[in-house]
Amino acid sequence: MFKDDVTILPSGFADIQSASQEMGFTMPSELQAGALLQVLAGAKRNARVLEIGTGTGLATAWLLAGMDAGSTLISVDNEPTYQAVAERILGSDARLQLVCTDAGNWLEANELLFDLIFADAWPGKYANLDAALNALTPGGMYVIDDMLPQPNWPAGHTDNVDALVTDLENRKDLQLVKMAWSTGILIAVKKGT
Ligand SMILES: C[S@@+](CC[C@H](N)C(=O)[O-])C[C@H]1O[C@@H](n2cnc3c(N)ncnc32)[C@H](O)[C@@H]1O
Repeated sequence: MFKDDVTILPSGFADIQSASQEMGFTMPSELQAGALLQVLAGAKRNARVLEIGTGTGLATAWLLAGMDAGSTLISVDNEPTYQAVAERILGSDARLQLVCTDAGNWLEANELLFDLIFADAWPGKYANLDAALNALTPGGMYVIDDMLPQPNWPAGHTDNVDALVTDLENRKDLQLVKMAWSTGILIAVKKGT
């Protein structure tokens, strides 16, 4: 029988999960989101991948697990104590570059293009959205989660989510799908060749 459970975890994931719980990291991505990211990261050879919001590296581990040997991942977070966990457990992977800085500033200064962007922080999602989308290759995928109502949403956040979805839906250079998977995932693909 078909089941949507996720049982095989990426390398380093269990250690990151333990460290996250120990330090009280309250914003982990879900297993189902990670499993999807792994597959998307494996969709292209030599992919250039960007994660905005490393946290402790849970989704980073999933992305690395999906990527081939020629792919690279830049992951940005402005909280060194969170990112230090990812550095300790995943830092020996030469495909990964961890950047500790404000992601909004980083996005505005960035000139690189990416085949897959997982935007998991305020910048790149609710701010600096143009800069994030401009960093997509034609055919590149922009992925966001937490689009379905979550218990930790601050008051009024539904309006932010609705405005973001409307903005993305109105962009002529994107095609997108909204999925009731995990915490609610939106995948937008940049049109063009
Ligand atoms: C939802 S968590 C990321 C979770 C992570 N991707 C995972 O899979 O568990 C959001 C992260 O964004 C980071 N963050 C918040 N504001 C930021 C900013 N302005 N620049 C960079 N990172 C930021 C936080 O430190 C936090 O680690």
